Amino acid sequence: MRQKILITGGAGFIGSHLADRLIREGCRVRVLDNLSVQVHGNRQRVPEYLNKDVEFIRGDVRDEAAVARSLKGINTVFHFAAAVGVGQSMYRIDEYTSVNNLGTAVLLKSLLAHPVEKLVVASSMSIYGEGLYRNQAGELVQTGERDLEQLKRGIWEASDAQSNPLEPVATPENKTPALASVYALSKYDQERMCLMMGRTYGIPTIALRFFNVYGSRQSLSNPYTGVLAIFASRYLNDKPPLIFEDGQQRRDFVSVNDVAQACLLALRSSKVDVGVFNIGSGRSLTILEVAEALAKAMGKEDLKPVITGKYRIGDIRHCFADITTAQAVLGYRPQITFEEGLTELSDWLEGKAAEDRVEIAAAELAVRGLTL
Ligand SMILES: NC(=O)c1ccc[n+]([C@@H]2O[C@H](COP(=O)([O-])OP(=O)(O)OC[C@H]3O[C@@H](n4cnc5c(N)ncnc54)[C@H](O)[C@@H]3O)[C@@H](O)[C@H]2O)c1
Repeated sequence: MRQKILITGGAGFIGSHLADRLIREGCRVRVLDNLSVQVHGNRQRVPEYLNKDVEFIRGDVRDEAAVARSLKGINTVFHFAAAVGVGQSMYRIDEYTSVNNLGTAVLLKSLLAHPVEKLVVASSMSIYGEGLYRNQAGELVQTGERDLEQLKRGIWEASDAQSNPLEPVATPENKTPALASVYALSKYDQERMCLMMGRTYGIPTIALRFFNVYGSRQSLSNPYTGVLAIFASRYLNDKPPLIFEDGQQRRDFVSVNDVAQACLLALRSSKVDVGVFNIGSGRSLTILEVAEALAKAMGKEDLKPVITGKYRIGDIRHCFADITTAQAVLGYRPQITFEEGLTELSDWLEGKAAEDRVEIAAAELAVRGLTL
């Protein structure tokens, strides 16, 4: 029988790629999305890129009636609808908590009346806070937030209690969460609520902790999320990217195509009843390396990134994925190298215009004392 799949937030960046992939696999796909202004602009039109075979329902994931209508005849749900942005979540606290926490609660309550065969929820690397580290004795250590006094002096790296340097290592799923923003807290809440209800009601439920996802269709005018899209928007406007701290912070950039593959594997997996998986590329890059590589791919090497030496409250120094569990259990294998992914991204960027709102976003943080 053809799978009938609902993607909440499916008009967004990751959801729309997943929709393409599922339709190629012969699934029927319905999307519930409220076309939020921050992602889709004031005109709130269904994006051109959304697959024409998608059945689109415009509605809010917090609206019980819209969710019930969206669930009719569905056997799998991908829950992607969310307000997305770390810094912004620290002042739009009610909005982030409402969309992410309440939205998930409404969906789960509706699933009691319309049970499904599988639920996959988009979780996030942000829940880890700082990634895992190794000390000089070779022991693995979990470090908390960096000391504000050290950050004011421009000492960016985390260190142990004796001020010895720590080496960042790949972060596995069993690292204790360290929730440093309202966004991270809400993503953890979404993940835990889904897993808890999955376990309680016997719905196989998988939380995928996405790392830094990049690729075509990421909103270029949303200055609150998606570091590569933010840098691309600067380059398109012939401005250099603004880099916090010293640019040496490490992240794991994963192509949206690999993320869509991971989602498909989660859908197909019969091995897991309730589980959590990191979805990254398994490789780490510094933010400066990423900015320079994008400049090269877009032919903007003359625009040297500006290292601001500023710190954003809640930002972490290093976090990149240990993907061995997803490899072993789901059979996940990232296929797209960063170089290939950048080529694809820069092809998509050709001829695109982007409203650069980065300085407005930075000023919003500064005025609230959220940057040092
Ligand atoms: N992009 C990343 O790097 C990344 C990393 C980790 C986790 N995630 C998670 O993956 C999911 C998808 O992220 P994305 O990058 O595609 O974001 P996105 O902003 O492009 O897509 C989110 C979609 O959700 C919709 N939406 C927002 N509020 C809604 C509401 N109340 N009701 C219905 N729809 C609503 C938006 O209109 C948008 O189309 C999110 O849950 C996000 O937290 C993304």
